[in-house]
Amino acid sequence: MAGSVHGTRVTGWGAYAPSLVLTNADMEKMVETADEWIVSRTGIRERRIAGRDETTASMAAVAGLRAIAVAGLQPDDIDLILVGTLTADYPMPSAAALVKDAIGNKRAAAMDLAAACSGFVYGYATAHAYIASGMARHVLVIGAETLSRYTDWTDRGTCILFGDAAGAIVLSASDGPGGTLGIEMTTEPAGAYFIWLPAGGAARPATGATLEAREHYMKMKGSETFKMAVRTLGSTSVRAIETAGLGLADIDLVIPHQANIRIIEALARSLDFPMARVFVNVDRYGNTSAASVPLALAEAVGSGRVKQGDHILLVAFGAGLTSGAITLQWTADPAASDRANAIGPSDVTVLPGYLEPVNPFPPALAWLLERSEQGSPR
Ligand SMILES: CC(C)(COP(=O)(O)OP(=O)(O)OC[C@H]1O[C@@H](n2cnc3c(N)ncnc32)[C@H](O)[C@@H]1OP(=O)(O)O)[C@@H](O)C(=O)NCCC(=O)NCCS
Repeated sequence: MAGSVHGTRVTGWGAYAPSLVLTNADMEKMVETADEWIVSRTGIRERRIAGRDETTASMAAVAGLRAIAVAGLQPDDIDLILVGTLTADYPMPSAAALVKDAIGNKRAAAMDLAAACSGFVYGYATAHAYIASGMARHVLVIGAETLSRYTDWTDRGTCILFGDAAGAIVLSASDGPGGTLGIEMTTEPAGAYFIWLPAGGAARPATGATLEAREHYMKMKGSETFKMAVRTLGSTSVRAIETAGLGLADIDLVIPHQANIRIIEALARSLDFPMARVFVNVDRYGNTSAASVPLALAEAVGSGRVKQGDHILLVAFGAGLTSGAITLQWTADPAASDRANAIGPSDVTVLPGYLEPVNPFPPALAWLLERSEQGSPR
């Protein structure tokens, strides 16, 4: 599509979190840990786990359809679908290709974005560039993860942190005031192996030995990641606000990546920014990687924390180490959130492959499925 340079604004938002709940009391039964330790070190009380019939593409499609409904659009109005994820259903095809089919879109380009927990913010920035150049008018940007299937449920240093979910926005062309005001993205390979998934890629293909050594699960240097995260989140935030021509005092709400309450609080302290103006839901979902910021955004708007005219900062960091921040002025009517209510998992079907389906649910959590099938949510 040819055209002049456009501004962009968020016209739709939506999220999906699976219904299975894994609490800290459950974690105590799996590894040597304690609710008190987890809450005081991370702020996390529970996380959601994708069900046997759910995948990254299926959850992404529900969140995406919800965002399209909130925007008052049809699936075919979408020109480009971007899915930020590190847990796509397959290395190929992309999750985005499966999402395109599942939402019933016939015309969009679709691709995944590999920026780990910054995947949604990187996707937002990419969508903005496509629209500003005239190559797209409406872009569906999704962050979606099924981290439970890449988590080593015997490693207490990581398994307490992560959860599954999806979140989405529709970013649309606009020549009106407000919308996207400032964007900053960084990548610091000095921290490339602070959080990584060693095997299954071209450098360490899957073998019996890699399976034996549990190298297909996420590994993390927690305290190194923590320090670098606080530093880069702060500098990325400041630059995205400055690019917007604003100051910190102009920001009404910060919606940070929900990795750890102590990282969020350290960010607020380092910026001298009040926690009352920072959105937090890490207690209920843990770290959902690329899904974290759009899930928090949809909850913030749906729960009345965002008003038209508010200046919002979205900021994330993740493996790479990547970091990204967006300053925007909110223009949409928050009441449109209600349009998502009618959409649920039964509205999407992910195109199956031609091999016999397997049960992808983590064997270490099989008891969680049994508990929910007996009618007890937690
Ligand atoms: C993982 C994290 C919570 C650990 O907290 P920490 O205060 O750094 O703790 P440490 O790693 O220094 O470990 C301290 C002790 O607690 C123990 N410990 C680790 N996990 C534990 C758990 N779940 N329960 C109880 N004890 C635990 C460690 O073994 C260590 O014991 P030791 O002193 O006997 O060796 C923290 O480092 C963190 O959140 N880092 C950032 C991770 C992150 O956000 N990653 C995602 C980025 S997108």
